[in-house]
Amino acid sequence: MSAIFDEMIDRRRTNCRKWDAACQLFGNDEVLPMWIADMDFAVPAAVARAVQERAAHEIYGYPHKEERFYRAIQNWLQHRHGWQVQPEWILGNPGVVSAISTAILAFTEPGDKIVIQPPVYPPFFSCVTKNNRQLVENPLRLVNGQYQMDFEDLTGKLDGVKLLLLCNPHNPVGRSWTREELLRLGQLCVERGIVIVSDEIHADLVLPGAIHTPMASLSPEVARLTVTCMAASKTFNVAGLYTSIALIADQKLRQRFSGVLEALDLNGGNLFGITALIAAFEEGEAWLDELLTYLDGNVRYMVDFFARQVEGITLSRPEATYLAWLDCRELQLSQARLKKFFIQEAKVGLNDGMTFGRAGEGFMRLNYGCPRTILEEGLGRIAQAVRLL
Ligand SMILES: Cc1ncc(COP(=O)(O)O)c(C=O)c1O
Repeated sequence: MSAIFDEMIDRRRTNCRKWDAACQLFGNDEVLPMWIADMDFAVPAAVARAVQERAAHEIYGYPHKEERFYRAIQNWLQHRHGWQVQPEWILGNPGVVSAISTAILAFTEPGDKIVIQPPVYPPFFSCVTKNNRQLVENPLRLVNGQYQMDFEDLTGKLDGVKLLLLCNPHNPVGRSWTREELLRLGQLCVERGIVIVSDEIHADLVLPGAIHTPMASLSPEVARLTVTCMAASKTFNVAGLYTSIALIADQKLRQRFSGVLEALDLNGGNLFGITALIAAFEEGEAWLDELLTYLDGNVRYMVDFFARQVEGITLSRPEATYLAWLDCRELQLSQARLKKFFIQEAKVGLNDGMTFGRAGEGFMRLNYGCPRTILEEGLGRIAQAVRLL
């Protein structure tokens, strides 16, 4: 157990979506929110201090990303992932989702085909369809309780594809893709000149036992057609500060991406987000290691709990993220009934599996980035409600 992460912090009435919008969203104020992807943990003390110090200055005009911002990112990626990046590769943007749309606008035309691998984070669908591009779905396969990429299916669908949206690590299934899997994917894209947008927002949330491989670190050929999206936001719980980065080694791709960023005026940056990122990457490592140990403890608790106490719900053990993908198919409830069951009977607020695509039917996503006490309460409620079914 950890004193830092065990602390229960009341987030209600702090303009916080997870807790303050829960009643409106679930229509029930008794629901325990375990949905949207932020954590119920305080940020590292160094991050809070840096933001508070900057806030104390009392002038919040337009920000500037000084050299220290780029150096902090460079050092972090080299140290944590063995990936050497150049400062000029780094382009700032508000969020990873806006970076995905920026890439779609920069590298494709209306009607072009874009591959996604569902079940996957809902904006992967909407960024494609709302920009009037064509979705090509290459669903993951669930083999012996582990999700895998379906390369055979993918190979048959790549004709005319311009771009592939990769979720690395994968939300919601929690896979940390191996080097071999990524090499295979990379080869298919290199052979056809398909641009890869690798969403690596969860890169630093890889649990003990797995290793994160940045897609663009595989080879110069893969790097040449990859846009990597990263942030300190998930890792250090600063998503509300809307600061993320896109890393692009290839100068031509970078120019096209940055042209759209400028056209949309998305390259300005958030003053507090910049401050938080620097503090997190410079001083947050010990906190992160402790967080990963804590999350790993939550995973062990959860896996054991579902195995022993809940008949009809299983989960594939997450290798990364703080999101668990619950397989509720054995309960044999329609999706509408399943949603109602969790909200009205179990009184826990989860994400509906179907929002991650058709492959999410019979599934729900649970956020375990919370103190163990909250996790125990949520799982206890689920177990109790399942017994009454
Ligand atoms: C895979 C993935 N990408 C992007 C985001 C959100 O990124 P942002 O808030 O920076 O737009 C999330 C949030 O849950 C996510 O899981």
